[in-house]
Amino acid sequence: MLISPSILSADFANLEAELRRIENADWAHVDVMDNHFVPNLTLGLPVVEALLKVSPIPIDAHLMIEDPDRWAPMYAEAGCGSVTFHIEAAHDPRGLAHAIHAAGARAAMALKPATPFAPYEELLADLDMVLVMTVEPGFGGQSFMVDQLPKVREVRDAIRRRGGQVWVQVDGGVSAETIEQCADAGADVFVAGSAVYGAPDAADAVEHLRALVRHHVSHHTSLG
Ligand code: DX5
Ligand code: ZN
Repeated sequence: MLISPSILSADFANLEAELRRIENADWAHVDVMDNHFVPNLTLGLPVVEALLKVSPIPIDAHLMIEDPDRWAPMYAEAGCGSVTFHIEAAHDPRGLAHAIHAAGARAAMALKPATPFAPYEELLADLDMVLVMTVEPGFGGQSFMVDQLPKVREVRDAIRRRGGQVWVQVDGGVSAETIEQCADAGADVFVAGSAVYGAPDAADAVEHLRALVRHHVSHHTSLG
């Protein structure tokens, strides 16, 4: 299980200090938005390269951009631990996953809320993680879309059926109120922006989220 706080809700004028606030987390989730794939503009490769130099934990890059075939491998080459492209924007997802791997990062595909998983199930063989968006991508602080949980289950079931080690990430509206439902549906990588950076103590918020998942998982397992 991994907790990946999103720095989208952090203070953009102090990103190095904001990364240190979450150094007890597993990954730092960095939302790259190009104002084309989503109606918002955040940061790009030069800023991610600067973050990589100072981040105490691996960077989980979530690319909400057009033409990821062109850009995503560069985030892997720069040193991101995991690079996620949107399947809606990818031209050759299999080739793209291979290029990300060749550059030394884990490769993931993301699905917007309206995008079904079934047409892409065969890609599981080429991926390390599937990101099921639980809000419409573009902004932090939106409400969790509970209607995406069946998709989380569907992805988890497909991974179980096929075997192999593919992680399932949820992103959007994940908080102390919603994280257990996500774990129950089969998610094991949890992105949380406002729930972590909006808390008085970000590190405590990370630990609290982690404890909720651990408790949920052990309870579930003890029930058989
Ligand atoms: C939304 C981003 C998320 C966002 C989540 O497009 O992909 O990573 O930061 O923020 P919260 O946790 O506040 O919904
Ligand atoms: Zn994200």
